[in-house]
Amino acid sequence: MPNLHDATRGRILFGGDYNPEQWPEETWHEDVRLMKDAGVNSVTLGVFSWSKLEPEPGAREFGWLDTLMDLLHDNGIGVVLATPTSSPPPWMGRLHPDTLPVTEDGRTEWWGGRQHFSHSSATYRRYAAAITEDLAARYGGHPALTMWHINNEYCSFDFGDEAAAAFRRWLREKYGALDTLNTAWGTAFWSQGYDSWDGILPPRTPHYLKNPTQVLDFRRFTSDMLLECFAAERDIVRRYTPHLPVTTNFMPLWSGQDAWRWAAEEDVVSVDIYPDPRDPLGAQNGALVQDMTRSQARGPWMLMEQAAGPVNWRGVNHPKPRGLNRLWSLQAVARGADAVCYFQWRQSRQGAEKFHSGMVSHAGEEGRTFQEVKQLGAELARIAPRVTGGRITANIAVLHDWHAWWAAAQDGRPSTRVEYPDVLGAWHRALWEANLTTDFAHPEHDLTPYSVVVVPQLYALTDRAIDNLLAYARDGGTLVCGFLTGVADEDDRVRPGGMDARLRELFGIRTLHEWWPLDAGETVECDGFRGTLWSEEIEAGRPDRTVPYKGGELDGLPAVLRRGRAWYVSTLPEPEALRELLARVAADAGVRPVLDALPAEVEAVRRGELLFLLNHGREPVTVEVPGSHTDLLTGEGHTDRLTLGRYGVAVLAS
Ligand code: GAL
Repeated sequence: MPNLHDATRGRILFGGDYNPEQWPEETWHEDVRLMKDAGVNSVTLGVFSWSKLEPEPGAREFGWLDTLMDLLHDNGIGVVLATPTSSPPPWMGRLHPDTLPVTEDGRTEWWGGRQHFSHSSATYRRYAAAITEDLAARYGGHPALTMWHINNEYCSFDFGDEAAAAFRRWLREKYGALDTLNTAWGTAFWSQGYDSWDGILPPRTPHYLKNPTQVLDFRRFTSDMLLECFAAERDIVRRYTPHLPVTTNFMPLWSGQDAWRWAAEEDVVSVDIYPDPRDPLGAQNGALVQDMTRSQARGPWMLMEQAAGPVNWRGVNHPKPRGLNRLWSLQAVARGADAVCYFQWRQSRQGAEKFHSGMVSHAGEEGRTFQEVKQLGAELARIAPRVTGGRITANIAVLHDWHAWWAAAQDGRPSTRVEYPDVLGAWHRALWEANLTTDFAHPEHDLTPYSVVVVPQLYALTDRAIDNLLAYARDGGTLVCGFLTGVADEDDRVRPGGMDARLRELFGIRTLHEWWPLDAGETVECDGFRGTLWSEEIEAGRPDRTVPYKGGELDGLPAVLRRGRAWYVSTLPEPEALRELLARVAADAGVRPVLDALPAEVEAVRRGELLFLLNHGREPVTVEVPGSHTDLLTGEGHTDRLTLGRYGVAVLAS
């Protein structure tokens, strides 16, 4: 199978989404001049070009694209060619309303925006296959082509009639017999028993709470339908170019796709990352997505989109201060990216995203944004030969599973304040701040490569996943589990005792009497730290050690239990306490931080033989790094220490 290396060939891909159809032809020549000036070696063409390529049903307008493919190739710029299928032309909705998705409350999602396609529509799929086929036939042999980009950020839902029929087919396949479905969905509750497959609907808006297992299966179905759309187009382009990699770009920690499954269907895993420049945890948000994408890719991955400056979809859209674009781009490289790309090349003058930055902003060539992009392009070219293909070794895995997230995110839960991504983020943050390199893994993955496995929260677990965790712990692994883990099975059926019995035994929990979720701003005292968000009334069985709650209703009961190398944390410790806890657990398991005594703002990552140091602070800092090193960015030598300026980065070779 081809991989990212087939497109990078030792370079770091640098460029972005290029939407030349928004510009007159003379601008294309100006674009290419500036691209070369900035060291751009790759652009993604055609993401939103469907109405230009197929202005009326069955018509083909390839001339403009021929010109661009040639122009880019003549100037040494490779093309990641997109199938345009995420934004069908207006004629499709007009002539074929069956291609339009319907929301849960029956509203049609009309054309005039984007992503207005129904994943289940046979008509949509037919048109999508046809344009994909013709693109692949025409450009499969073009020398500019380096990779295929299928669709864009698959993220739609459909509750309409054709989707309903597809949902029923999917359910029949999964359950075989209606009785099995009735049992799995617990339809005895609220008189929901089905006597016919035809009675089953997507979880459209009901009077009151929805059946949670129906919702859970619908999320699985939606992920699978979108994956079918991806795979259909992927298979078409693969017939023409079996030697070229195929990708589709994920949204960061997006709930709509089971990205573990999706990643296994891609040659290259790519993602779009847009932390808020004002967010004090922006760098950690980025690191989390980077770690997750690398883990899905099991090697180098592609940063398909980021913003060179502000986005336009937050309430207040802040620009990136000088140096931040470079810092966050190099952070992605440190954490395994072999491609650093943007949405988009040239900032639009019209349309819904005209106030979203581009590599060339409205200020043009003289603008700070382009000047910084240009500097970054030169630096990436400089470090690429030593960086690309380099691996990152992590001894810690954080477990993450979309199905557990979907099951936990239902209405009717104990606390709507407990949001899965927040809990996941809090645990990753603790590891990130402790400078402990971390992978993500699925709960059924092989965990034996890891010394420590951290489960922030996996509300629903399969028996197989529980077997896996128990085997890992039995074989000497250190397992740290947060609350609301192992509560339900894969049908969202609560396990006897409110938490899986074998897991309770593992941690030394005898009885889990009640959950005590906390209000906003409420904390719970524990011996040595404060807990937030959640607490539990646990009667201990035979733990080796406990840290008790202090005061209040839970006084003296265990907040943290440890049995052997298995830890259970029944609250969310405040950030510093969680960091200290995980740092201690890691140290006991023999896992060291990347560097000792790092200043708080500095992130350190080892990739291959290189050490990346990233200063997320606005003040210069001195970092102790024993030994002699050369900074590949500057060519300068350093012995035992070096100073990083505001948002400064060093890429050290020893
Ligand atoms: C992404 C999308 C791009 C652009 C960008 C703006 O989600 O793929 O097309 O809309 O966001 O930040």
